[in-house]
Amino acid sequence: MGIRTAILGYGRSGSSLHAGPIEKHDDFDMIAACDIDPARRDRAVERFGCTVYEDYHRMLDEEALDLVVIVTRSHQHCEMTCDCLAAGVNVLVTKPWAVNEAEARRMTDAAATSKGMLLPWLPARWGGDLARLRQLLDEGAIGNVFLVRRAVCSFATRCDWQTERRCGGGYLLNWGPHIVDPPVVLLGSPVRSVYGRMKQTINPGDTEDVFFAVMTLENGAIIQAEYTVAVESLPGWFIQGDRGTIVVRDGAIKVYKKTPAQPDDPTNYGSMRGTDEDVFEEAIEGSRYGDEFQIYAEVAQALRGERPYPVTPEDALELSRVLDAIRISSEEDRVVEL
Ligand SMILES: NC(=O)c1ccc[n+]([C@@H]2O[C@H](COP(=O)([O-])OP(=O)(O)OC[C@H]3O[C@@H](n4cnc5c(N)ncnc54)[C@H](O)[C@@H]3O)[C@@H](O)[C@H]2O)c1
Repeated sequence: MGIRTAILGYGRSGSSLHAGPIEKHDDFDMIAACDIDPARRDRAVERFGCTVYEDYHRMLDEEALDLVVIVTRSHQHCEMTCDCLAAGVNVLVTKPWAVNEAEARRMTDAAATSKGMLLPWLPARWGGDLARLRQLLDEGAIGNVFLVRRAVCSFATRCDWQTERRCGGGYLLNWGPHIVDPPVVLLGSPVRSVYGRMKQTINPGDTEDVFFAVMTLENGAIIQAEYTVAVESLPGWFIQGDRGTIVVRDGAIKVYKKTPAQPDDPTNYGSMRGTDEDVFEEAIEGSRYGDEFQIYAEVAQALRGERPYPVTPEDALELSRVLDAIRISSEEDRVVEL
């Protein structure tokens, strides 16, 4: 028997991003699924032949589970996670794992007293773009990085629960884990101050579909991160160093290396052009939001005690604090210090 696994929330993401790798991995056995929607329970039975439940408390009472994967609406994650941890079960919880810092703290506290592990799902940390950018920055390809701009653009509306604040909707929570977290990880320094702006532009509901943040890190570098509604797209990444620039757009990464000339004549600014220009472009390997099969392989290793899971609850708590700061900055029209 592999890792006895249940999915809690067999919806759009639960039945695809999570059921897919669970189905393919020999390490996992999908023994139960829980959803309040009977049609979705039927689909889980057809696919896995597993036991299904309408009420997750009953599932926790009746099944001997090793892992519950929580993929319900965002405002439900905290309570469900705490209940599963109280039952001594390991939990993998999708993003956004919590709707604010207070929930994130309840979850880290619940993990501290449980024999179950708490594994936050932050798939962009496995992204092909982040991995390659890390290599390039480690090699010093563009020198010292002082500014990273990260953006995702679309001109699509949605009308589901993700447009409702009471359900934990809004693009800051939905997209922040993919947009705000990776540049902070890339630069490896904590966020110290945040200026944020949020707007509701084309979506119905009562939450933002645009967010914009300027974050200053402890090491002095600046990150500008945004999800924005626009027909034309900005580069996904635009990274500025003192020896060049990296641009990521449409699955390709382009590196411009340059050494600025030192001034030799104070009256002749025009001669201070960079030298040693070197430009190369390559395709990015792997998905921007990580390979789910690989992430599940690392979940299995963590549950077998072979290797720590690379995203800690403290990492996810820190991200919740930063997302809160962006929201507070926008709502209160002030810079928030962390
Ligand atoms: N790339 C990613 O990591 C990614 C992508 C999409 C969604 N998500 C996250 O996954 C979560 C779910 O999003 P979705 O688009 O799949 O939503 P969804 O509405 O399709 O799925 C949620 C499911 O939870 C079920 N549910 C609701 N209340 C329940 C309860 N009390 N008990 C059991 N089941 C219950 C619903 O019936 C539904 O099937 C969100 O938090 C979202 O942010 C992550």
